Amino acid sequence: MPATSDFVVLHGCSSSLLLHAPVGGWPSVLYFGERLGGGVSAAEVFRLRRRQGAKGGPSEEVVATLSCEPGTGYLGPSGLNVHREGRSWAPTLRVISVEQEEGCAEIRCRDDAHGVHAVYRFTLDARNDVLAIDTELGNDGDDRLAIDWAAVACIPLAPELDELMHFSGRWSGEFQTDRHRLRQGGFLVENRRGRTSHDRFPGLVLCTARTDERAGACLGVHLAWSGNSRLRVDTLADGRRILQCGELLLPGELRLAANERYRTPRLYLRHSASGLSEMSAGFHDYFHRKLKGARTGGRPRPVHYNTWEAVYFDHSLPVLTELVDAAADIGVERFVLDDGWFKGRRDERSGLGDWVVDRGVFPEGLHPLIERVHSRGMEFGLWVEPEMISEDSDLFRAHPDWVLAAPPAAQTPFRHQLVLDMARPEVADNVFGQIDALLDEYEIGYLKWDMNRDLNHPGARAGTASVHAQTHAVYSLIDRLREKHPQIEIESCASGGARTDLGILARTDRLWVSDNNDAIDRQRIQRGASFFFPLSVIGAHVGARRCHVTNRVLPMALRAPTAMFGHLGVEADLLGMDDADRAELGAAIALYKEHRELIHGGELVRLDGLAWQNAIGVVSRDRRSALFSYCQLESHDEVLPGVLRFAGLDATLRYRLRLIWPASDCTPTPQALENSGLTGDGYEVSGEALVKAGLQLPLLYPQTCLVFALDSV
Ligand code: DGJ
Repeated sequence: MPATSDFVVLHGCSSSLLLHAPVGGWPSVLYFGERLGGGVSAAEVFRLRRRQGAKGGPSEEVVATLSCEPGTGYLGPSGLNVHREGRSWAPTLRVISVEQEEGCAEIRCRDDAHGVHAVYRFTLDARNDVLAIDTELGNDGDDRLAIDWAAVACIPLAPELDELMHFSGRWSGEFQTDRHRLRQGGFLVENRRGRTSHDRFPGLVLCTARTDERAGACLGVHLAWSGNSRLRVDTLADGRRILQCGELLLPGELRLAANERYRTPRLYLRHSASGLSEMSAGFHDYFHRKLKGARTGGRPRPVHYNTWEAVYFDHSLPVLTELVDAAADIGVERFVLDDGWFKGRRDERSGLGDWVVDRGVFPEGLHPLIERVHSRGMEFGLWVEPEMISEDSDLFRAHPDWVLAAPPAAQTPFRHQLVLDMARPEVADNVFGQIDALLDEYEIGYLKWDMNRDLNHPGARAGTASVHAQTHAVYSLIDRLREKHPQIEIESCASGGARTDLGILARTDRLWVSDNNDAIDRQRIQRGASFFFPLSVIGAHVGARRCHVTNRVLPMALRAPTAMFGHLGVEADLLGMDDADRAELGAAIALYKEHRELIHGGELVRLDGLAWQNAIGVVSRDRRSALFSYCQLESHDEVLPGVLRFAGLDATLRYRLRLIWPASDCTPTPQALENSGLTGDGYEVSGEALVKAGLQLPLLYPQTCLVFALDSV
């Protein structure tokens, strides 16, 4: 329906979006924040917010339009850099039409002189308040239009959002959070790795100095894209603060032919006036309803066994068969055969590209192993790394020119592998054919889709940069395989969490967020990932007693509950595990199964705490049951660890509070814990007391995790 005024108004449950989009004028975001009541008109907000010109500058302030394009006279960083061989560089996109429907508005803009048009689509989900923005740019001219930068949209931020939380890290240390005060100048996160990256996650949270998990304004920002990205927040001298996010384009990477269009990745925003946990809950609900859809809908997330840390490349049918049995014995439901099963893959130097079973290791193919997995009541999953090729492979020997490269620059050595140019149809067809044949031959329910190197030289055959095309080609390959094999679930992995974003998650079902199975590190990594992703997709494995990455020795009593608050799996070598650990792990798996509907279907709340603590909880939608995990990561210098104030509970209900993990050995004062009444059947207490007064925690050994169950009585 065409809009009837100069304004667009979209309301969610807790937020409102106001856009100013006068036909013939410039489009801009007027307001995105706490929900406005029916008595507030967009026109009055426009009037209130109107900025006057200031001395020493233009007599009328230049509007920050949806693209802050250079032709408007805007002097902050432009949101749209285009040109035609150096000319036509200063477009101004004026509104030509506005369509509005329930929850959605589309603003069409054009600049005839420059032959450019833009369509901005805003969709505010009325249920969870996630705002999705998609933008299309079109070349209406006769010659090529180079796009150097196109922010999805330029979003002026509310003045109180003057702090920024970002997510950095490294291999095995993903999703580390850090908070900064924003000052005049820019804050820039650029990812040039050709995959989402371990260190430059395409997401931010804008907030106030007082925002915490329960209170305060915040704005979650996430670009749903698995290639290069740029996120920037510029605080201008005039006090305005503008957010821009989009795909980072390499030189010459995107040049539109006449009538060609470019669609930006989707940008997600979620405003909350009530703290960070509520913001995350919005993203989680959006994911469950909009992205995951019917694919895994309602099906309990099966307990995994993954072979990687148990055997690495040392595959042999007898050992794997023993592992199958050991996994089934402790309650595993899906057995995933990791790297090492295919032709010539005895170490990381060879084999990638040849997706056929190594007959030297598996003379009868994978049939005997898969039959054993099925006979023990489990599903079978298989690891693949479709975008990669080893120089020592039949595929490379046949097609050495199929790789991304930027000659004469030498390839950067990286895990002995190169990247296939997936945008070439013959390459994608070959890989599709091989994976398709595997899925036809074997009953495989699950693929772990890995991607273990950056794109240091992402050059296509034509000599052009190709991260954009590569990313789309990978998406298409997954979509194509999914269409042919709709029953398949897929895990997104990239040396751990280097491809963790809502772009890939729109077509996959689980995220391997880190190669680090150290439970202490995992507490932080999983907490960081939970800002955007629900626990149901955060793959979390119980690793070896001595962690293979950090060498730290941690007890099962900590490793198991850490993995329980995610999509639980086991990666430890079950054959070398002692009986006590194996029994404890089996008990944890049983506990997880008992509570997984709540863990994956409830609302996540993160509790605020000190650096040496991590507490999170999951509360059922009707608030009648909850599960909380309190982890003491290190020693502390006070006598007792302090008070745990539960959150998300119904203050009007009474709950039975029980300590359900660990059974013993978590405190130097076991008698005191016994006397507290928390163990066994626990005791009844009001929701209000749990939330407002909180529970005095017992003295604990460092590196201990307690799990509390709460059920309304
Ligand atoms: C990196 C992954 O993150 C690991 O879990 C494992 O699958 C290896 N690749 C296999 O090469």
